Amino acid sequence: MKIKIAPSILSADFGKLSEEIKSVEPYSDIIHVDVMDGHFVPNISFGAPVTKWIKSDLPQDVHLMISEPEKYLEDFVKASGAGARLIVHQEACGDGLRAVLEKIRELGAGAGVSIKPGTGVDAIKDILDIVDIVLIMTVEPGFSGQSFMADMLPKCGELRDLGYEGDICIDGGVKGENAKACIDAGANVLVSASYVFGAEDRVAALKSLRG
Ligand code: DX5
Ligand code: ZN
Repeated sequence: MKIKIAPSILSADFGKLSEEIKSVEPYSDIIHVDVMDGHFVPNISFGAPVTKWIKSDLPQDVHLMISEPEKYLEDFVKASGAGARLIVHQEACGDGLRAVLEKIRELGAGAGVSIKPGTGVDAIKDILDIVDIVLIMTVEPGFSGQSFMADMLPKCGELRDLGYEGDICIDGGVKGENAKACIDAGANVLVSASYVFGAEDRVAALKSLRG
């Protein structure tokens, strides 16, 4: 599968966001947008009134680390456009997960699901038929700059064993030194915030993520 690199703008300088995006665009495949509500995760980033100003030629994955995402789906699709994918957390949706994912699709966006480190692949096995991307967290969601949890990687193989053929994304603590392990485990989308935006040489950092 094609390896897709997805810098997360969480570690970018929002005072000059378009320049920051331009600095990574030529070497990236997706712009990763981390939305946090201070409730589902212990940190607040931004919502749809801000994401609507994130302009890129690349597609956007909007990672919704929020409670009750169903309330805000329309806002986020309107803000990011139908070409975006909205990724919701299994833990935030519970039994309503399938309905939330169907709603995202109805709105014309791509649908994705994410699982925190404590959630097994079992919890999403029944909805794999309607997602374009599964995001496996390799840190507890909420902050960039945390240490990579390598013991989450076997979840990639478990997804493939279930017959899932869509994108598998690793998010949290991804760096040049662990990118190959992610790819070897079966992931094809690699998110990175602090490693890319904190690098002196962003181009070299992005290139190193291809494994
Ligand atoms: C964590 C977010 C990640 C995070 C990654 O809650 O979902 O996308 O920003 O940051 P790094 O790459 O610095 O671990
Ligand atoms: Zn993320």
